Amino acid sequence: MSLPFLIAQISDLHLKAGNKLTYGVVDTLGALRRAIDHLNASQPRPDIVVISGDLVDFGRPDEYAVLHPELARLNMPYYLVPGNHDVREHLLAEFADHVYLPLCPEAPLDWVVEEHPLRLIGLDTTIPGAHGGRVLDSQMVWLDDVLGRRPEVPTLVVMHHPPFVTGIGHMDREAFINGAALEQVIRRHPQVERLLCGHLHRPMQQRFGGSISCTCPGTSHQIVLDLRPDAPAHFNLEPPGYLLHRWEPGQGLVSHNGVFGDYPGPYPFYDAQGLID
Ligand SMILES: [Fe+2]
Repeated sequence: MSLPFLIAQISDLHLKAGNKLTYGVVDTLGALRRAIDHLNASQPRPDIVVISGDLVDFGRPDEYAVLHPELARLNMPYYLVPGNHDVREHLLAEFADHVYLPLCPEAPLDWVVEEHPLRLIGLDTTIPGAHGGRVLDSQMVWLDDVLGRRPEVPTLVVMHHPPFVTGIGHMDREAFINGAALEQVIRRHPQVERLLCGHLHRPMQQRFGGSISCTCPGTSHQIVLDLRPDAPAHFNLEPPGYLLHRWEPGQGLVSHNGVFGDYPGPYPFYDAQGLID
């Protein structure tokens, strides 16, 4: 294990089978391949990757069958939570080798991973067949109990739906059902460094229960930044991105927002005479 410890977060892959373009426009498979190449080539390389849901677009077995070998190219361990576009049963069937995942698709796919400097908790916020998110009362009890067992270990909660109102009207229409109750649980456990969410296909942060909840850009398409209440449900092809969370004991967790793709630069600030005029 290396320190500082780096956690890359990617989200909302929306992968399709048969080289089909997502919504007829987006090459999600090509975008995922570029994202994985980028993470594998990063210096320093992330220690682990967490993927905050919407792994595929329609939750179909053939989509997961395309996804699995692509993710297997990651040169580091990776951890999954489902999003509203996923189907638990098909996800579990394909990723049976992911031993941290529970075995039963009838219940939320909640999990805990203890083997890293930060404790990872996957929290399944999906409601089968629905767009919005929630945490069941039984999950609240489970989460409270799990967090209470190791209060000294800094912890990340990985989940799909952000538990706050985003201001992007069409995404807020099915608001997170019990964010206030979840916030009460989180408030009891100050070791929670972040709640790492997806779903919004763009980066946001919000203070939450004494911690910070944040959302991750998509690996392919982004949701248009439009804060009008009647904003149409539109996406665009702004630069895709990821979050890179850097943990160092004594320094805490710093979350960087990176982009995938090739852009001009880098250029130097300085030459032999000093700051370039
Ligand atoms: Fe999504």
